[in-house]
Amino acid sequence: MIPAPQLSDIAAAAGTPCYVYDAAAIRASYAALDAAFDGYPHAIHYALKANSSLAIVKLLQSLGSHADANSLGEVDVAMRCGYRPDQIVFTGVGKSAAEIDRAVHLGLLAINVESPGELDRIDQRAIAQDARARVALRVNPDIDARSHPHISTGLKANKFGVPISEAPALFREMAARKGLQPVGAHVHIGSQITTLDPLTKAAEAVVALARDLRSEGVELQHLDMGGGLGISYDGGPVVDPAEYVRALVAATKGSGLKIAIEPGRVLVGPAGVLLTHVVDVKQFAGSKRFVVLDAGMTELMRPALYSAYHRIEPLLRRDGDESPADLVGPICESTDAYARDRMFPPVEVGDLVIVRDVGAYGAVMGHTYLRRPLPPEILSDGSEWRVIRRRQTLDELLALESE
Ligand code: LLP
Repeated sequence: MIPAPQLSDIAAAAGTPCYVYDAAAIRASYAALDAAFDGYPHAIHYALKANSSLAIVKLLQSLGSHADANSLGEVDVAMRCGYRPDQIVFTGVGKSAAEIDRAVHLGLLAINVESPGELDRIDQRAIAQDARARVALRVNPDIDARSHPHISTGLKANKFGVPISEAPALFREMAARKGLQPVGAHVHIGSQITTLDPLTKAAEAVVALARDLRSEGVELQHLDMGGGLGISYDGGPVVDPAEYVRALVAATKGSGLKIAIEPGRVLVGPAGVLLTHVVDVKQFAGSKRFVVLDAGMTELMRPALYSAYHRIEPLLRRDGDESPADLVGPICESTDAYARDRMFPPVEVGDLVIVRDVGAYGAVMGHTYLRRPLPPEILSDGSEWRVIRRRQTLDELLALESE
């Protein structure tokens, strides 16, 4: 937890809105997951999509993680931060020819194959390069993650992976192709999952698949159980990360196969806060109170996109009772609200407010609607802090354009 005086110094120096991450919290989350494997062979592939700022990726790389990339941009960021190609898995529902070519050329640990058509394209591109691409098959186990529908991926109705019933035939096909070396099976059923059961079921499904494949002579090297572990945005119950890891190990150890996981949110989510100033307080007779912040859906999309809940509080508490308020941003959209009818203490223009648990899917999903430059990001480490991304200038935002 970053102390309030440091947050207030940061706001004064870097301006608001701005993201602040706590390096110690990231180290602690990583260590808890890693230790829970208790010596069982594993790799923690940090899902860069959650937060791919160079300093955050570099921090996770320095802790010994491997990487999960969802685009060539993320593959390149991973490599700039020191991951070797054979530490990177590459997933993506619609990989372009250029992406496949480069992934094959780099020799990534695994390209996670999404479809029979893609299997064929990777094989052809590998043969053209006189290479053998390491591939894993992403299976869709038709398991309900019981998460928000927008971030569930493991049901038949979702666009991800191949039905698990088709997997044995596709593995045989991969094993027979000259350009492919099947090394793993991959499953990811969704994000912000707060119960253990769907995660265990998904793991058991791929372990059973690996067992069947072994009996047919197809020997895998790893089982990639994906990411998805949820965090407590509202103080409600979530799965303890160590318990999750122990459940994965229990499901897998009979096979002896190495476990890969792709956590994003659980590693960086709780480590980030968004610092923002109150720019207006509006309250008319008979109407509700609107607290207008200088951050909105441009900086943090989650509330507008998924009605996501984030704890929000003034940095310094003023005297007075809480009363309901809409905590809104400055953007010209009605969905631009971080919270509605939320009990909130009294605040005045100029007060600092913090939005919690924004280390994952916060800054990475920011955008520049209304020509709002991207906000800075700060990494705090004990009593020290530093700017890891400075605020974008309007000139930089316009640099790609001509009149
Ligand atoms: N692996 C794959 C294949 C994924 O698609 C994802 C997330 C992860 C790993 C990491 O999942 P995590 O451990 O972070 O749950 N923008 C949404 C979340 C989208 C998640 C997309 N895929 C949000 O703000 O909640």
